[in-house]
Amino acid sequence: MPIRGMFYEPPPSTLSASMVVPFATLLLREQPRIARAVESLTAALPSYVRPAAEYALNGGGKRLRPLLTVLVSHALGGKDKDQDDGVYKIGAAIEMFHVASLLHDDILDNAPLRRGREGTHIRYGVPRTLLTADAMVSRAFQTLAETGDPRYMVCATRAVIGTADGEIMEIAHQGSTEGGLDGYFTIIAGKTACLLRASCELGALWAGADEATLGLVAEYGHNLGMAFQMADDALDFAPSSETGKPEGGDIREGKLTPPINYHMESLDAPARAEFARRFAARDFSDAEIAELVRAVRAGGFQERTLKLADSFLDKAAAALEGFPAGNDAQAKAALAKAIEFVRNRTA
Ligand code: FPP
Ligand code: MG
Repeated sequence: MPIRGMFYEPPPSTLSASMVVPFATLLLREQPRIARAVESLTAALPSYVRPAAEYALNGGGKRLRPLLTVLVSHALGGKDKDQDDGVYKIGAAIEMFHVASLLHDDILDNAPLRRGREGTHIRYGVPRTLLTADAMVSRAFQTLAETGDPRYMVCATRAVIGTADGEIMEIAHQGSTEGGLDGYFTIIAGKTACLLRASCELGALWAGADEATLGLVAEYGHNLGMAFQMADDALDFAPSSETGKPEGGDIREGKLTPPINYHMESLDAPARAEFARRFAARDFSDAEIAELVRAVRAGGFQERTLKLADSFLDKAAAALEGFPAGNDAQAKAALAKAIEFVRNRTA
């Protein structure tokens, strides 16, 4: 995972002030406890779907969502974090929702690859993959129900409904160029930002945060999620050797993401009308897709998309500023570094 410029200041008590720990190290530090929680949730799945779940869950994902749950909970200082396994379980549940949504998404997108490996539906077939996702979603809800606090279920239900609605809207508008950037924002607020926001909110609930803090946490998670998807959509035009995904996949799939929208806006009226017609028909040849990828790169539309993402990251940073000080300043600093992680995302 190439990561540029993400540094997390370690506590002076354990490391000298001149030392810096990359954000990746922080991910690795929390990884074992997150991994154990994910494994124990996976072990509870029916044996018929467990191998596909393990394959999907161990595909090299960054576990960003459970990390956010854990960090927000620590940043707001609810419990003694060394004794606190519960928040890792909640993070694992969120990871289950996320990976289940990707299983559905790869089937819907007819995507052969995920992170450079064959998709779970290619390896295990579509029926078993759909059952795997169903089992993961139901176990994730069970984990949240076991907290005994209905607010966890309310939060996760809202996020799963939002995720599904966002995806439905995206598919219903495939090939359409009418919604423009506003339509795109509505889609990604659902399909991506909802779950990232919930990852943060669940951590805040675990920490016993008050309403005002929950609002700031939601604002942080929403804006981080919006920017995360925009970075993803800019990366759709990066070399496939770096991303493990086919270049220009969103053009093929008729998704009006910012780089495509900017490209279309740069055309004169007849060329724009012709592009819209072909985009709707989704009949671009491989050579035409390659040409469009080149045009997006030459027009600087990836960079423009990343600038747009930055404006959301600035809002996330402003929300984070307002978080009350908990007893773990490192965790709050790490949430600031998560913003930089998205700002510098390369895969
Ligand atoms: C990836 O988008 C897809 C999502 C973020 C959400 C997918 C949601 C569903 C299929 C609804 C079902 C929901 C649940 C919880 C089971 P993308 O295709 O733009 O990203 P990619 O390039 O990584 O494929
Ligand atoms: Mg997809």
